[in-house]
Amino acid sequence: MAKIAPSILSADFARLGEDISDVQSRNIDYLHIDVMDGMLVPNISFGPAVMKSLNRIAKVPYDIHLMIERPERYINEFITENTEFITVHYEACDDLAATIALIHKLGAKAGVSIKPGTSPEVLDDFLNDIDLILVMSVEPGFGGQKFMENSIPKIQYFVDKKRMDNYQYIIEVDGGINPENAYLVKEAGVDLIVAGSAVFNAKDRTYAIEKIKE
Ligand code: DX5
Ligand code: ZN
Repeated sequence: MAKIAPSILSADFARLGEDISDVQSRNIDYLHIDVMDGMLVPNISFGPAVMKSLNRIAKVPYDIHLMIERPERYINEFITENTEFITVHYEACDDLAATIALIHKLGAKAGVSIKPGTSPEVLDDFLNDIDLILVMSVEPGFGGQKFMENSIPKIQYFVDKKRMDNYQYIIEVDGGINPENAYLVKEAGVDLIVAGSAVFNAKDRTYAIEKIKE
């Protein structure tokens, strides 16, 4: 059984509070908060002000995915009483070790994400300090894209490393996952699944959530 983090990027922003309350009334584990700067990825989403307003209704912890260049400039803004994970991109950091240390110093768990074109070995030197590894299974920037199968061997790579060397991180996957293909990432050994359009656009959200997790 995997955990699920619905990505609020696929919610209806005109009724964001209602959409979030709706998914929180079902069996979800985190809210996945996608923050984009139009630089690291070709899209802009929302920032800390929106996230802070959500604190009034949040009932599950935040899994924050920062798709921004030099994220160390903004990490402080994303620390709230609901923040559990802050994930930065390997490709966006000048000094990844320092950025991980900063997230820890500010009291959150540190995640690191790699894009589809980045090989998993780049994280070898950091595995002791990372709490969450986020394997992207689409090019980050937009919801509703097709799942990329090259994420599967990367998930397996981190599962094997963890087993061999007793690391503590959890493994998350993000992009294009739905009730039909979720088995692929679960078989590979993922712990936490992000799903945006497959949850928010589902006719039966409970079914989609349960099917992705089971
Ligand atoms: C993509 C985001 C994802 C996205 C997932 O850049 O990081 O979290 O919202 O959406 P789906 O599940 O629709 O691919
Ligand atoms: Zn995301």
